[in-house]
Amino acid sequence: MPTQTGDGDPRPVILRAENVSVSYQSASGSRVDAVREVSLDIREGEFVSIIGPSGCGKSTLLRAFGGLTRTSGGSVLLQGDPVTRPKPDKIGFVFQDYTLFPWRSVLANTVMGLQFRGVDRREREATARRYLELVGLDWCADSFPAELSGGMQQRVAIARALTTDPAVLLMDEPFGALDEQTRTLLGGELAGIVEKTGKTVLLVTHSLAEAVFLSDRILVMSARPGCIKEIVQVPAERPRTEEFLTSALFDEIRAKVFASLIEEVHRQAQANEESRRAAQRG
Ligand SMILES: Nc1ncnc2c1ncn2[C@@H]1O[C@H](COP(=O)(O)OP(=O)(O)OP(=O)(O)O)[C@@H](O)[C@H]1O
Ligand SMILES: [Mg+2]
Repeated sequence: MPTQTGDGDPRPVILRAENVSVSYQSASGSRVDAVREVSLDIREGEFVSIIGPSGCGKSTLLRAFGGLTRTSGGSVLLQGDPVTRPKPDKIGFVFQDYTLFPWRSVLANTVMGLQFRGVDRREREATARRYLELVGLDWCADSFPAELSGGMQQRVAIARALTTDPAVLLMDEPFGALDEQTRTLLGGELAGIVEKTGKTVLLVTHSLAEAVFLSDRILVMSARPGCIKEIVQVPAERPRTEEFLTSALFDEIRAKVFASLIEEVHRQAQANEESRRAAQRG
């Protein structure tokens, strides 16, 4: 059964982190504490962004949410069930690097999740075409990834992640390699797709504008070991429009997130410098 937290939001909790910590053993044998005691509830249909200094543990936390990285403490629950390994039926991923297979056509890339599930060819192709249409790429189903721009390839990756109808979509800087205009355009498209499909999304991004435009809530992570420093609500109505992008509310929220983030960026830089000196002393 979905968990309720009694904070007034009627939507059920779909994904929960309870005191999640992740530590790595580095190649030199020392321990890196990447994430420390993160507790968080994400509700069905929510769009939550994670922002924080480079190296603070954002990807690690996202991977722990998806069962791709083992937690060293605490637990992740999806609809009340522990997530200890990937659940491709329920959790979809879109990563920063274009992860399409170059020798497969756009359609053949998009059907992959359904193919692994054993869905028959006619049905999987029909579903894949539907999602390609949703991301505006049905017309290049027979093209190959190399014939597509970076933005188009990421749209295919999003379509592919949606075909299996996952309960949650985890995205790690999906637009990180794109130019600012394409990012803005794709962000707008993603907002539309999420509104149409009602998906729950957890997005890691370095872009303040992207986070504010897309999210219901923004989690600001601290310098490593990353914990949640602050949660900023984005009380703007949906569908989000370009007017929101140029509104006073948008600027106000962005400034608030920036102020919180920049402190951590400085703290992380200082910590990196200390680690460097310690390594030199060695
Ligand atoms: N497999 C690994 N083995 C050892 N250390 C790791 C591993 N993966 C990540 N780390 C370390 O854990 C810390 C957090 O890394 P993570 O990739 O989660 O950061 P991030 O916030 O996503 O950074 P960025 O914004 O640069 O993507 C870093 O210090 C990194 O070096
Ligand atoms: Mg990362």
